[in-house]
Amino acid sequence: MELSQKGAPLKLFSLSSNRPLAEEISSHLGIELGKTSVSRFSDGEIMISIEESVRGCEVFVVQSTTDPVNETIMELLIMIDALKRASAKEINVVMPYYSYSRQDRKARPREPITAKLIANLIQKAGATRLISIDLHAPQIQGFFNIPVDTLQSIPIIGDYFKEKHLEDVVVIAPDHSSVTRARQLADSLKAPIAIVDRRGPRDQEHGTSISNIIGEVQGKTTIIIDDIIDTGRRVTGAARTLDEHGAKQIYACCTHPVLSGLSIDLLEKSAIKEVVVTNTIFIPEEKRLSKITQLSVASLLGQAISRIYENESVSTLFT
Ligand code: R5P
Repeated sequence: MELSQKGAPLKLFSLSSNRPLAEEISSHLGIELGKTSVSRFSDGEIMISIEESVRGCEVFVVQSTTDPVNETIMELLIMIDALKRASAKEINVVMPYYSYSRQDRKARPREPITAKLIANLIQKAGATRLISIDLHAPQIQGFFNIPVDTLQSIPIIGDYFKEKHLEDVVVIAPDHSSVTRARQLADSLKAPIAIVDRRGPRDQEHGTSISNIIGEVQGKTTIIIDDIIDTGRRVTGAARTLDEHGAKQIYACCTHPVLSGLSIDLLEKSAIKEVVVTNTIFIPEEKRLSKITQLSVASLLGQAISRIYENESVSTLFT
């Protein structure tokens, strides 16, 4: 990729949560990752040192806020502070996965809105822009008073499924809140959708409740889509319901493979044939099931970074 050199030099840094993704982005952009080191004081406090000048630079920092979540958030905030004090001109936070995003409104009395709290912290630290992928709720953009570019992974996931030439596809929303996302994938695959209509208290052990399907899945190739697979309960619960309703094949996909707790075990034992995820979150070796396929968002992020740097439209990436 050719980057025209404008006034402020572009610098790309990686923190510790997903260096392989940052390296892929850097080779896409044709620039080296900036030199920085992250270490710990003996009491666990984080120390960051930026080992090259960033004065007057347009800086992009790649950090998904993933397990250990609180550590990776703190690392990011300290890096932003360091960049601000080192006179970086722009501090663009590239946060492919935005943690704490699921508490995005006060659903019950006395609940926090952590998505807003994280937005406040990032801005207060000194970030001038946020770039993320498939935010859990689009309104999180409005929690910021700086520009927020939200990229979409559905075109990448859609292209992957198109190449499989599957027949009789139905895209599945694992609950009512996932219908918009299911519709987007279904549009790209020219397929109908069906919805898992989950009601009643959740069975903690199996993640089930009374479920029905709105739509036709008997004898169909089904693709469940969610934004996050965390404990894996929602997606495997949906798969069980699809199986009971006679689906021929079951695929699952998501943008952010959080894969905590017993998720790997649940996915392995489920009727799901393949789980397609992206690399917004690094998956350690011990969690790499053979049925998990990881698609890269590096080129998407690279293009977004270069467009932001060149003052070009980012939304046209999706039109
Ligand atoms: C919830 O609002 C999200 O969109 C996902 O459905 C949820 O995070 C999945 O969680 P789990 O894998 O733990 O069921």
